[in-house]
Amino acid sequence: MNTSNYSVKTIEWQGDEVVMIDQRVLPLEEEYIHHTTWQEVGASIKTMVIRGAPAIGVATAMGMALAARQSTATSQDDLKRDLDEAAKGLFATRPTAYNLGWALEQQAKIYNESGDVDKIRVRLKVRSQEILDEDVAMCVAMGEHAAPLFPKGARILTHCNAGALATAGYGTALGVIRSVFKRDPTIHVFADETRPFLQGARLTAWELQQEGIPCTLITDNMSGYFFKKGEIDAVVVGSDRIAGNGDVANKIGTYMVSVLAKEHGVPFYVAAPTSTVDLSLTDGSQIPIEERDPAEVTHCGSRQIAPTGIGVRNPAFDVTPHQNIAAIITEMGVHSEPYTESLAAAKKGK
Ligand code: MRU
Repeated sequence: MNTSNYSVKTIEWQGDEVVMIDQRVLPLEEEYIHHTTWQEVGASIKTMVIRGAPAIGVATAMGMALAARQSTATSQDDLKRDLDEAAKGLFATRPTAYNLGWALEQQAKIYNESGDVDKIRVRLKVRSQEILDEDVAMCVAMGEHAAPLFPKGARILTHCNAGALATAGYGTALGVIRSVFKRDPTIHVFADETRPFLQGARLTAWELQQEGIPCTLITDNMSGYFFKKGEIDAVVVGSDRIAGNGDVANKIGTYMVSVLAKEHGVPFYVAAPTSTVDLSLTDGSQIPIEERDPAEVTHCGSRQIAPTGIGVRNPAFDVTPHQNIAAIITEMGVHSEPYTESLAAAKKGK
């Protein structure tokens, strides 16, 4: 499907190069980075040039196609050795996003099958493009499934950026908001700024503004104020990994929002493709949580805002228990408790 109507291109093939918009410099600058090696793709995932679980999955699949191109192997065994090494390197970039490991599995299915090495190289590139296209289609489907859940004129809170920039296009949580807005232009979005990396302030606010979707930016500690005043009707967020029981890992601060939503009787929705659902984990306590550089907390951009040498923790994600979630929306539909059953069925394609 053509994603150009929806927003900027997050990631794409240009010939044999993987091109990504540099999300670190948005919204003030629009710069694109070209990648010709898997190591460059890995560095871009690690340093957040590209971020958001589904977008990381697409980048990983493309990185594996680049790795196959870089390899001079003429036998399948040698190609497999080189690709396994690339997979290990890419896997180590960011631990929480399940789509990363999922994309590696998709590519491993191809290079572990016997076949001609040049054909394998072609198939890895084709599969990476399919993963991109499927991601957009899944986001659009999620939007269609979720849109009827929102009342007319809904005031919707979102946290972090789960938009076109976090996916191959359209977005998960912002995809839902786009679909709701198409039906009802009277909705209003509250975007949490999302300290410390400011994905909400820099990326969500920018995406919504580009499309004329009414949006108010708030700092993370303000949402309780708006819940209490009855100014939030629904919450929708994305996810980096969902355990089999419906516990959801998402950007740090999401759990806090879910607790507020529960306290105020506001429905809390999660939108994510089934490629984010990790049925190997029975609950959210098993989800690996990335801890990032303390400098993200002690600094705002390049400006230091805390005393030198202060102790810092910087977990990038937290886990929202399934009890706080009104529904999980995947490309297969709207899922509710018991999530152990509904998510398993969604993964099977039922
Ligand atoms: O650290 P990030 O920016 O990669 O974290 C992104 C999020 O937490 C998103 O909400 C999540 O990946 C869903 S994106 C569709």
